[in-house]
Amino acid sequence: MTDDRTPSATAADGFPTGSGGHDPEVLRQRALDALLTARARTTALTDSVDEGELTAQHSPLMSPLVWDLAHIGNQEEQWLLRAVGGREALRPEIDGLYDAFEHPRAARPSLPLLAPTEARMYASDVRGRALDILEAAPLHEGGRPLERAGFAFGMIAQHEQQHDETMLITHQLRSGPVALTAPAPPEPTDAASLPAEVLVPGGPFTMGTSAEPWALDNERPAHQREVAAFHLDTAPVTCGAYRRFMADGGYTDPRWWAPEGWDMVREHGLEAPLFWHRDGGQWLRRRFGVTEPVPDDEPVLHVSWYEADAYARWAGRRLPTEAEWEKAARHDPATGRSLRYPWGDTDPTPEQANLGQRHLRPARAGAYPAGRAPSGAGQLIGDVWEWTSSDFLPYPGFVAFPYREYSEVFFGPGHKVLRGGSFAVDQVACRGTFRNWDLPVRRQIFSGFRTARDA
Ligand code: AVJ
Ligand code: FE
Repeated sequence: MTDDRTPSATAADGFPTGSGGHDPEVLRQRALDALLTARARTTALTDSVDEGELTAQHSPLMSPLVWDLAHIGNQEEQWLLRAVGGREALRPEIDGLYDAFEHPRAARPSLPLLAPTEARMYASDVRGRALDILEAAPLHEGGRPLERAGFAFGMIAQHEQQHDETMLITHQLRSGPVALTAPAPPEPTDAASLPAEVLVPGGPFTMGTSAEPWALDNERPAHQREVAAFHLDTAPVTCGAYRRFMADGGYTDPRWWAPEGWDMVREHGLEAPLFWHRDGGQWLRRRFGVTEPVPDDEPVLHVSWYEADAYARWAGRRLPTEAEWEKAARHDPATGRSLRYPWGDTDPTPEQANLGQRHLRPARAGAYPAGRAPSGAGQLIGDVWEWTSSDFLPYPGFVAFPYREYSEVFFGPGHKVLRGGSFAVDQVACRGTFRNWDLPVRRQIFSGFRTARDA
């Protein structure tokens, strides 16, 4: 097995670059920052609506926000207080209520959930104890796997941020007065001069990681993949391009659709992305309670895998495989090495990627020139999750850690991989190797796509 980094070298930001050499104090500080950042987001998402809205079900697809809040606390209790800290359960009777596998989302509002005040107190009580445990935990190499390099703390910060994205989806699905606002993302500066597609050269590259300390089990281990040369869209497919597909009868011609996708179109009468509606001659969309014209040059959002797949076929192209996506995002032909991010090994800055709910929409296609990959492709990280053609499968050598229900039970042809993160996810849960997955019918998620073709 090869690694994606030279052992014992250290990146500029102090991040460990080999299997050894993690500085426990750097990681302790990073874990503290990541946990505090996540809690600030969770608080913003749950303090912005009243108690009735916290306990209401805004969509059968989603949990009530108050479920996510206590579930965040309960996962933190199970992993940081009990597994790492060896503490007794604070409230063993509530574990079952917040077990995602025990109760489907649609059934959660009728459970005897903690009320908003109780849920807030529980999550903050757990947090106080978790920070005490973090302060004293030995994070060194050779320690217990959960503590090594602060893994459990990083995992729990990522878990909270993943639920913060889920809660933002609930906000998008709710009706009622505007609860969340954010400034617009930066405008592109050189979009007119960008080529429509970039060429990614053929050859092997290193996919996945064995070195990134907080990479989750499904991103591991690093391994070589052969990827033939291909062309990839420079930017995600825009609303304007998608409207040409619609105007050309995209939703009425079975030629473009996978059979199950065509069934979905007919069963639900689909004719546009979720949250779009026609108003006379123009298309409008609803975005966090505001109705506005669909912006032509923004990446299309809220499309299912079936819609992405149909658009690509209509365009005479195809979705990229997951390996192609990662090679375009990470492979540096100058060194032959795989980078942590398209721009290099340093953590994302606000100039490089639209992440963390800083903006509540994707930036226009061609924005974030500082975030481009050596291949020339841009906006791979942040903005919109990108559907790939690939099923969610384990890498060779995969080992479930620390629990089978994070990834392993989802492996198989039922789930398609999404890459790159959206404006709604924080950087702690987004990197060049990060893998997300969902059912191919899902469209309430912050999903878009780009297309590819063989070279
Ligand atoms: C990786 C986003 C598919 O939300 O179902 C949250 C993340 N796992 N709690 C999900 C997750 C357990 C997961 N996704
Ligand atoms: Fe969860």
